This record gives sequence, C-alpha cells and structure tokens, in this order.
Amino acid sequence: MTMADLPVVHRLDGELFPEDTWSEEMFRGELADQPRTRHFVVAESEGGEIVGYAGLAAAGGQADVQTIGVRASRRGEGIGAALLTALLDEAGRRRSEAVFLEVRADNAPALRLYERFGFEPVGVRKRYYQPSGVDAIVMCRRLRVARPPVGFSREA
Ligand SMILES: CC(C)(COP(=O)(O)OP(=O)(O)OC[C@H]1O[C@@H](n2cnc3c(N)ncnc32)[C@H](O)[C@@H]1OP(=O)(O)O)[C@@H](O)C(=O)NCCC(=O)NCCS
Repeated sequence: MTMADLPVVHRLDGELFPEDTWSEEMFRGELADQPRTRHFVVAESEGGEIVGYAGLAAAGGQADVQTIGVRASRRGEGIGAALLTALLDEAGRRRSEAVFLEVRADNAPALRLYERFGFEPVGVRKRYYQPSGVDAIVMCRRLRVARPPVGFSREA
C-alpha cells in the first residue's frame, strides 16, 4: 500500500467498518512507519482496482494484524486468505514469535478465516466495540522461529 492508494482504501474502509472507520490521517501514520514496524498491502483486480487491503504491525517479537478487508462483491474468492498469507509471511520474515488480532464476536466469516489459518482464541474484551457493545475476541497464532538447536556449534 502506498500513499497514492489511500483515497480508495479509505473509502473502502468506510464501507467495511462503518463503526470504526480509520481516518486517512491514521492510514498515513501507519504508512509513514513502513517498513520499520509496519507492512500494509493491497490486493488489486487484473484491471488494477483495489479489491482488498491489510496491515501488520510488528515489533519486539510480536506482530498484530491491524486491519484486513475485502470489497463485498469480491468475497469468497480467496482474496482474504491471500492478504492474511502476505501478513503472516512478513511476520515470519521479521522473526515474530506470535501474531495477534482482535475480531468482533459476531463476525463469523472473519472468525472462520482466522481459525482456518491456525489462530486460537486467547481472550475476550467485553463490550469492546461501541456503540454496539459487541465483545472483541483476541486471537493468537504462534509462529515457528528458526533458531539453532541449543549447544549447536559449527566447529563441533
Ligand atoms: C473476513 C474477510 C476479510 C474474508 O475475506 P474473503 O476474501 O471473503 O476470504 P476468503 O475468500 O479467503 O475466504 C472466505 C470463504 O471463501 C472460501 N473460498 C476461498 N477461496 C475460494 C475460491 N477460490 N472460490 C470460492 N470460495 C473460496 C473459503 O473457503 C471461505 O469459506 P468459509 O468462510 O466458509 O470458510 C471478508 O469477509 C471481509 O472483508 N469482511 C468485512 C471486513 C472484516 O470483517 N474484516 C475482518 C475484521 S477482524
């Protein structure tokens, strides 16, 4: 995702998350921290139209899915899975040990996607989303970090 994508991404964000739309300023702040702690991507149709977007924050061994969304007319084609794969791959490249996210308890399609990718519920934030008062489920997926085995030495 680049600054040039923001007008379209911001409009799409308003459609997908009417209760907590990010301002364009918030997106700018995220992109300004790219690539240091952020990795934001867009999915484009063959014609170059933005049909989805997603963002990751990664620091200190932990990564968080900041946002993920697919245009309503293009759901169920694997775009959400492709975006989530891109974020998990980046978390792996950055050697994150775990990826966290928050999801509305009433968001069945998103919960299914995350479960399919090995995320497990680790907590609940009661009435987190306002004004609806819907709970947030906190989910986590541990990543395998490649480390040399204890005691391993090249010279041995
Ligand atoms: C959650 C969300 C991102 C999923 O995006 P998506 O592009 O529909 O996700 P996918 O296509 O990868 O997977 C969705 C379903 O399509 C199916 N699917 C995947 N590839 C497919 C394909 N090529 N053909 C047909 N179906 C397919 C999957 O099996 C999955 O089925 P399931 O829900 O029964 O498990 C999307 O619903 C969305 O944007 N929701 C609104 C915003 C939102 O809630 N974001 C999450 C906030 S936490």
